[in-house]
Amino acid sequence: MRRTLGWLLLAVSVGTAASEPAPDGVDTRPRSGEKTWRLFCEGCHKPGPEAPGTRVLAARLGWDKAPLKGRQDLDPGYVKHVVRHGLIEMAPLRPTDITDEELDALIAYLREPASK
Ligand code: HEC
Repeated sequence: MRRTLGWLLLAVSVGTAASEPAPDGVDTRPRSGEKTWRLFCEGCHKPGPEAPGTRVLAARLGWDKAPLKGRQDLDPGYVKHVVRHGLIEMAPLRPTDITDEELDALIAYLREPASK
């Protein structure tokens, strides 16, 4: 019983730490495109088969076009629509998560080539 409680507390504290701002305490808004990408998109859209978004897109577009970072063929209006309304398996994100201004910065960031 004690053991279970210990693991539970550990899980709660790890979960809390992950949602806190960077260690230096700085989470200024508006966030940069890169920061928004890392917070909200990278986990699902980074290159490689472990990212669920990349995996789904690879089935439709092939692996070279599957990672979002660096893609030039995405219309900004389309990206906005997908982020605000979701797309099949991808949940929508609201302006409280990503403001319109931050979404514009994110779209500009995505267009920059991926650094290898
Ligand atoms: C929980 C995982 C997840 C997160 C987080 C996520 N996505 Fe997605 N995204 C997906 C999946 C899965 C698809 C493929 C949807 C489908 O076709 O079924 C997708 C598709 C897309 C597409 C369509 C690409 C194309 O070629 O049609 C865009 C654009 C996109 N996501 C942008 C974003 C952006 C920007 C973020 C961050 C703000 C984000 N996604 C966060 C899972 C995610």
